[in-house]
Amino acid sequence: MQSTYLPPSAFSARAAIPDMDAYHALCAHAERDYEGYWGMQARANLDWQVPFTRVLDESEAPFYRWFGDGRLNVSYNCLDRHIERGLGGKTAIIFEADDGAFSHVTYSGLHARVCRIANGLRARGVGKGDRVVIYMAMSVEGVAAMLACARIGATHSVVFGGFSAKALQERIADAGACVVITQDEQLRGGKRLPLKSIVDEALALGGCGSVKHVVVYQRTGGGVTHVSDRDIWLHDLMADQPERCEPEWVGAEHPLFILYTSGSTGTPKGVQHASGGYLLWAALTMKWTFDIKPDDVYWCTADIGWVTGHSYIAYGPTAVGATQVIFEGVPTYPDAGRFWQTIERHGVSIFYTAPTAIRSLIKASDMDPAVHPTNYDLSTLRLLGSVGEPINPEAWLWYHRQVGGERCPVVDTFWQTETGGHMITPLPGATPLVPGSCTLALPGIMAAVVDEAGQDVPDGQGGILVVKRPWPSMIRTIWNNPKRYQASYFPEELGGALYLAGDGAIRDKDTGYFTITGRIDDVLNVSGHRMGTMEIESALVAHPLVAEAAVVGKPDDTTGESICAFVVLKKDRPGGADATALAQELRNWVAKEIGPIAKPREVRFGDNLPKTRSGKIMRRLLRVLAQGGVVTQDVSTLENPAILDQLAKAV
Ligand code: WT7
Repeated sequence: MQSTYLPPSAFSARAAIPDMDAYHALCAHAERDYEGYWGMQARANLDWQVPFTRVLDESEAPFYRWFGDGRLNVSYNCLDRHIERGLGGKTAIIFEADDGAFSHVTYSGLHARVCRIANGLRARGVGKGDRVVIYMAMSVEGVAAMLACARIGATHSVVFGGFSAKALQERIADAGACVVITQDEQLRGGKRLPLKSIVDEALALGGCGSVKHVVVYQRTGGGVTHVSDRDIWLHDLMADQPERCEPEWVGAEHPLFILYTSGSTGTPKGVQHASGGYLLWAALTMKWTFDIKPDDVYWCTADIGWVTGHSYIAYGPTAVGATQVIFEGVPTYPDAGRFWQTIERHGVSIFYTAPTAIRSLIKASDMDPAVHPTNYDLSTLRLLGSVGEPINPEAWLWYHRQVGGERCPVVDTFWQTETGGHMITPLPGATPLVPGSCTLALPGIMAAVVDEAGQDVPDGQGGILVVKRPWPSMIRTIWNNPKRYQASYFPEELGGALYLAGDGAIRDKDTGYFTITGRIDDVLNVSGHRMGTMEIESALVAHPLVAEAAVVGKPDDTTGESICAFVVLKKDRPGGADATALAQELRNWVAKEIGPIAKPREVRFGDNLPKTRSGKIMRRLLRVLAQGGVVTQDVSTLENPAILDQLAKAV
């Protein structure tokens, strides 16, 4: 029997879901009357301008519609309704800058900023259904820009500030954006990094004819090129704009945002989310998973460039009127105590971060005891969360003991860009915790483990993670590519009606708890960043010297996985110093093509790749080689078994 950690009774006493009976009662309600359950939640958690009469429309499955005839505005729900209830003076955002300066923005203040940006965009012709790309670092302005788009019914697509000009260009072109909002430079760990000039570069690559304006937030004052008629400072766009802006009331299915994420094949997919269902789940999971209370100070360390920064920074916390910290910097600047110092400084009570960050801070505090969390006053913490990748039990225990002082439940939240919000997670006041398990599906989320034919497998036997019923915050389609949506997430092999998450899972025989066993497709998870092996391979073969490339993940103690690339050149295989230099060149090449997060840790050169007689690259074998292992499988079906030896030695 694994050791379990029961919720502290003082926590349960105040919790939104105080015990497992309450959890089971909600699950039973959803089982009994699925639409009634979700309809009740949507009425209780959101303010509707026009109430919906129909909860779920499955007539065009798997293109589901939720609350379809209801109308609402997301920014109204995130701002105005709190102000109308007297919370205008409450702090919405504590902005902690890279250099340690900080400032508070109230709900009224945020509302005014959002309205002025919204009015400024409207004045330039941006309206309902137009796409706006946001390429910004962590800032109040970044969140305000997202909410401003929501206010006028524009669909935003945030592109992570670490992506290259080429990656940005592809996303702008695919989305057909009419405006790009960016900033002059970003500050990270005391360094200034360009953003605006990367937008210039991206637009110069072509294919972005839809872009009429580039709006630039002045963060550092660093020099930027100004293209007249196209570029405008954010402060000029906002100048003279009134602090009120009539919201654009949209149907619940109106696309709130597109967020590009990696799949196992092809180019990144523009995951399209709706307005009503998405916001419902962002708000409700704030209440359930994070047990958010009016006096909490909440901090999620994610970036708005990822879905976590959408659901659990821009939308969830504001939808429930919470106070949150928004952090511009990095965990290791000025030293690796920055997270703990920031928690102490702002009295953070709910902290949500990624296992990679925890593991690297464990290492850092082993090296330098001065930055160990126990040197800081973390007594305000009452709940800890983890997201993005599996958290190993050692890291879980350290987080629980050294950060949470053994008094804070740890919620290991499993979800995806496509799911919009938490799917499988403990409820902090109810669920007995088992380190390394994300425990149980939230009420109304019909998660299950099936075999390759879509049949349920018994608990204790691993299989494929699926969701059996649609849920309100699910992906609606892939932008511009409904066929790919259907094929990727509702494959025929599983019967066409199960949502395929892309992860393997196993449920415990005794508890029914889920443990995620990792991706079952060619998607890597490096430091919680999701990347397709194909994307990296395409970047490598775009290099003039590369003939062929295969990329696999290699387990890593800190980053979860690291990228290992096997490369065949058009010329002879280099050795010694030539190989080292070329490997470095290719790593930098990938950083330029996609972004630094996609840089392979290791590049190995071979005369060929292991292939079947039909020409399929055997990535399974490459994974073994990447780990330094010996291939013991039968390789008689390989076209060229001898290549394995060469690649094993090519370290
Ligand atoms: C993939 C989704 C979740 C938002 C941020 C990442 C992995 C995510 C967990 C977890 C084990 C996890 C899965 C998933 N993943 N959370 N708690 N335990 N694995 O969103 O970039 O869409 O990545 O991240 O493999 O499929 P994403």
